[in-house]
Amino acid sequence: MELVEYRETKDRSGVRGYLSACVDTILRRTPVLQPLETSRPLGEYDAVLLQVPIWVEAPAIVGTALLDQVGGLLPTDTWFVVTHQAKASYEKKIPRLDRFLKTPSRGFLSVCTEAPDQAAMKAFAEQIGHG
Ligand SMILES: Cc1cc2nc3c(=O)[nH]c(=O)nc-3n(C[C@H](O)[C@H](O)[C@H](O)COP(=O)(O)O)c2cc1C
Repeated sequence: MELVEYRETKDRSGVRGYLSACVDTILRRTPVLQPLETSRPLGEYDAVLLQVPIWVEAPAIVGTALLDQVGGLLPTDTWFVVTHQAKASYEKKIPRLDRFLKTPSRGFLSVCTEAPDQAAMKAFAEQIGHG
């Protein structure tokens, strides 16, 4: 298993960074991404799990920018984890992510990072393991 972080080049720290993230999200400004450092070409992975935070009630533009670049290369066995602070499910946002893939994702988990649902996380892990 390999864990890879994707990042944009823009500094989003502090209040200024937060506000710029909100404005860029609302204006759908595509961020510039740092190179993705995977040990193999993406198409060679059996499965990929991509975590995308929710920004301003939508998948973060850094996540959709990444999917725009590499979504077509991802395997059929691709899963999404959307994270958010609100105690709600963001299931309805998954189609926005799926549209970047060759085939719809195999499944998703919507996680409130303030109060993660341990049972849902366990069920999701089992689903991926047996998928
Ligand atoms: C610019 C920005 C906008 C955000 N908008 C939302 C939002 O609309 N709804 C929500 O539930 N969380 C929102 N969040 C919280 C992020 O989804 C959350 O920080 C992220 O999933 C990572 O979780 P953590 O900060 O607890 O590690 C926002 C965060 C940022 C930085």
